[in-house]
Amino acid sequence: MKTSMGFSKLVSLVLILHLLNPIVVFSSSSSSSNGLSEIPKKFLNFAKRKELVDWMVGIRRKIHENPELGYEEFETSKLIRSELDKLGIPYNYPVSVTGVVGFVGTGKPPFVAIRADMDALPIQEEVDWEHKSKIPGKMHACGHDAHVSMLLGAAKILKEHFEELKGTVVLVFQPAEEGGGGAKKMLDEGVLNNVEAIFGLHVTHENPIGTVASKSGSLLAGSGIFNAVISGRGGHAAIPQHSIDPILAASNVIVSLQHLVSREADPLDSQVVTVAKFQGGSAFNVIPDSVTIGGTFRAFLKASLVQLKNRIEEVIKGQAAVQRCNATIDFHDKPVPFFPPTVNDKDLHEHFLNVAGDMLGNDKVNDMKPLMGSEDFAFYQEAIPGISFSLECKMRADQSSAQSTRHTS
Ligand SMILES: *[C@@H]1O[C@H](CO)[C@@H](O)[C@H](O)[C@H]1NC(C)=O
Repeated sequence: MKTSMGFSKLVSLVLILHLLNPIVVFSSSSSSSNGLSEIPKKFLNFAKRKELVDWMVGIRRKIHENPELGYEEFETSKLIRSELDKLGIPYNYPVSVTGVVGFVGTGKPPFVAIRADMDALPIQEEVDWEHKSKIPGKMHACGHDAHVSMLLGAAKILKEHFEELKGTVVLVFQPAEEGGGGAKKMLDEGVLNNVEAIFGLHVTHENPIGTVASKSGSLLAGSGIFNAVISGRGGHAAIPQHSIDPILAASNVIVSLQHLVSREADPLDSQVVTVAKFQGGSAFNVIPDSVTIGGTFRAFLKASLVQLKNRIEEVIKGQAAVQRCNATIDFHDKPVPFFPPTVNDKDLHEHFLNVAGDMLGNDKVNDMKPLMGSEDFAFYQEAIPGISFSLECKMRADQSSAQSTRHTS
């Protein structure tokens, strides 16, 4: 979101949508059915105040200019804490290295959590603009800078209305969403103890600004990664009979891996196996000692993910052995386990539809298609009911969906 005008519109929206969440606290039943449908509109107006929008935009720019990678969000975390201090909102820190967990409301149940992730990506920002990343090779390319400022915005509005709250909103500023499993670590530290529901959002630009999207049930896939070293015996390329060629073995391994989804998976149970890394050899006339391959596998059902993992290991070892090679495989699932599938709670989705519809109009609330991407918010949803939705912010009609992938790594 690179222009300030567009961004302030986005900020208002985001705020409001975060403010959907407290409504669970205001009332456990649907807003439309019992005369509460004015609340979302009221919050929309709170969120549109210029000084609030400017404050949030300022925070977001500061974070955008100073991106920090997973578990290194020290300055981001400091900024969050100093804003919470100014707002008079109590918090726990440190939680999972850099995480901050704030509390607004009565301090009593029901507890409802809102989560924002804080980390940036190891990507160089290529676009020159006023608030470009000042850190070479690091960038908020996935919108977490916006997520943090939105949650602070929500915190401020909630604090202004905390006497109306009939419970406690837990503000979860989480480190390391990008592969570091920050959500899992936060959970292990008891962040969600007593929490009855959790809400998260992600900015996307698939659809026009001012719209939101989600779905009930499976939204994002669970995912794992693998790395395998296929070892043979190096030698001169002109006398292959004296070598054991790991390049050919790895090639056959890759072809065989492609049969897992096409021949072994239920065609109606979407799955992906991609080999994205192939490293081996450096000369045209030398057979190398070993080849390293790596990739990702994804599925919507946990059982399918486990099945893929087991078969990937068998196929790599077995197919390497056909060519007299040995293979070792590392799934890098410790200490952070595979990301589980992101599954939205049915009742919370219903609530989302009601509140977003009241606030934005039903025509602005879209069904989201499931994606094979994954999100560590899923760890929270394994523990308690949760919903993840997308806050759309496509600002130009000519932004194609190919351009709209959130980041490239
Ligand atoms: C594979 O492992 C076995 C058992 O350790 C060893 O005897 C053999 O030499 C290894 N083969 C290659 C190609 O590394």
